[in-house]
Amino acid sequence: MTNAGDIFEILKAEHADLRRLLEEVIEPTEGPAAGILDAKLLELRSALISHDRAEEAVFYEALKNVPNRTELAETKEEEHHMTEAILEDLIASREDWDAKLALLKNHMEGHIAEEETSVFAIMQSSISTEQSEQMARSFVQQKGAFLPMHSVSDQPGDATSTVVL
Ligand SMILES: [Fe+2]
Ligand SMILES: [Fe+2]
Repeated sequence: MTNAGDIFEILKAEHADLRRLLEEVIEPTEGPAAGILDAKLLELRSALISHDRAEEAVFYEALKNVPNRTELAETKEEEHHMTEAILEDLIASREDWDAKLALLKNHMEGHIAEEETSVFAIMQSSISTEQSEQMARSFVQQKGAFLPMHSVSDQPGDATSTVVL
């Protein structure tokens, strides 16, 4: 069986991908052609939405089971929707491009930074290594068709969609 690793490694790898995609939108390396920028925006949207939904289904559902952490999980999920709304706005119209892009960067980077520090620390102190690995398998399963973006993989049917703490 291929090991999916632990949930924290997977999320960090995806965050690195998201930061790279965001930088490519902010500073396109392939010139200013509008078509390329459109493609980058759509790539970022696809990566962000698939990450957010799987993270909510696996990581934040588990966090809601940690005593007194339901509100934190809900706040982070609301941040996902806010960030996605800013990105949708960017895709819909180039008006106020610089301001909207700065807002997107601010929201995405702030959210990810907080996840990787305080939120991960809370989860790490609440779950076992085994649970983290089970969560990783569930995350991989949730990602489904989006997986080719990453190197993690697992046997089909080997994961469960719910991690019980
Ligand atoms: Fe998130
Ligand atoms: Fe995340």
